Amino acid sequence: MAVNHVYDDSTFETFFANPPEGLEFDALDRSRIPRHISCIMDGNGRWATAQGLSRGEGHKAGIVSLREIITACVRLGVEVMSAYAFSTENWHRPAAEVNLLMHLFAQTFVDELPLLKRENVRVVFLGDISALPKRTREVFEYGLNETAHHTGMVLALAVNYGARAELARAARLLAEDVAAGRTTPDAIDEAAVASKLYTAGLPDPELIIRTSGELRLSNYLLWQAAYSEFYITSTYWPDFDRWGLIDAILTYQGRDRRFGGIHE
Ligand code: FPP
Repeated sequence: MAVNHVYDDSTFETFFANPPEGLEFDALDRSRIPRHISCIMDGNGRWATAQGLSRGEGHKAGIVSLREIITACVRLGVEVMSAYAFSTENWHRPAAEVNLLMHLFAQTFVDELPLLKRENVRVVFLGDISALPKRTREVFEYGLNETAHHTGMVLALAVNYGARAELARAARLLAEDVAAGRTTPDAIDEAAVASKLYTAGLPDPELIIRTSGELRLSNYLLWQAAYSEFYITSTYWPDFDRWGLIDAILTYQGRDRRFGGIHE
């Protein structure tokens, strides 16, 4: 499988050269790129099964897609790209698959860190990474520290993430602040809740992409997705590429976002 073909010396123009027939790439408004794009990377297993490969091969192919979409987002000037890599519910998968994913996460991170550095990407994690196996946790913590000073795109990886757990944690942290006299119940507003989420300080996702055709949020960013636009494609994640991303952004740019207000 091709690996280091994405973090290249491409510019926007060379990275997005030769758009496929039928995609209205010229219609892309580069002044209206979503600040935060989030991906629910679904369908690695089904992609693999359809090819007669193991699920592990599907996850490896998914990593190649992730690399391509990260680079595409960097070239597009996206401020935050987030991706749902492992949910609090994914622990229920067979132990062999969980172990393989944890191993792949660590290995991918080691392999990609130099390239993330070159692209000035700052990595953050959404979720409780303290509960991950030791090596994966250590590699992630190393990556966090190594990229903390970066000023380019923020890559927010949701690992051991569940939105309900995140909201329960926020409630707990606020309760602790009240108990310690740092705040009062009256002072707890939306901004106070947002400040206790894993995404504190990041803009909410304007565009959430879900691959493989499922029409649900799967306990992902329940608070932050309040006004997100959704783009669902039947394409399995390993087949999702830069052009799929452009199609998602074109679709987003064609939508009328009113945030509960009226049409102007
Ligand atoms: C969903 O496919 C995908 C996952 C559970 C894992 C995705 C993870 C990556 C692509 C790598 C992330 C890398 C880092 C460094 C965090 P699925 O198994 O749910 O597919 P299925 O629904 O077809 O079974």
